[in-house]
Amino acid sequence: MKRRVAILISGRGSNMRSLIEAAADKDYPAEIVLVLSNREDAAGLAVARGLGVPARAVPNKDYAADRKAHERAIQRELEAAGTEIVCLAGYMRLLTDYLVGKWQGRMLNIHPSLLPLFPGLDTHKRVLEAGAGQHGCTVHVVTEKMDQGPIILQAKVPVLNDDTEATLAARVLAEEHVAYPRALAEYIKRLPRPPKS
Ligand code: GRF
Repeated sequence: MKRRVAILISGRGSNMRSLIEAAADKDYPAEIVLVLSNREDAAGLAVARGLGVPARAVPNKDYAADRKAHERAIQRELEAAGTEIVCLAGYMRLLTDYLVGKWQGRMLNIHPSLLPLFPGLDTHKRVLEAGAGQHGCTVHVVTEKMDQGPIILQAKVPVLNDDTEATLAARVLAEEHVAYPRALAEYIKRLPRPPKS
């Protein structure tokens, strides 16, 4: 039985697409049951629908500054879809302990750096400024500490002399698209099966 995975996005959703495409293989251990975005204008919503996956916005702006109310609305959607695992894929909102707690050990994220190096935003720019020789991406389990959860898998790329932020980002992104589906499949192998109901 495939595990039921929901993906949270905020933008273009290219990692989301790579997960949906991987999951279309009958031998892949997950199916993507839902895509949610905190922004109505996320381009990834239309991409998901085009690939046959239900996709909805739960705009945080509808909840003003009440983060928890927004997360409760997300949680309702996740539960209604029978979600077992949540993948953050370019979800640009910090989560509170409420949602992280609900999905302990069952929420993954992809981050564009070799964690623990360069947590946070603007990683490609910061890598170039630091003069690092290599860069990459990390898929990790989400915990209350941002970008610090247990690492499932990393992929490395070289930083070239003539790299700009854009060329480096593109090289990393190509690796992300391979790494995320692989990491999710590996992680699922380690998860206990849900009890039979
Ligand atoms: C990716 O670089 C991901 O690592 C980061 O946000 C970006 C999302 O890109 N968390 P996309 O929306 O998946 O194309």
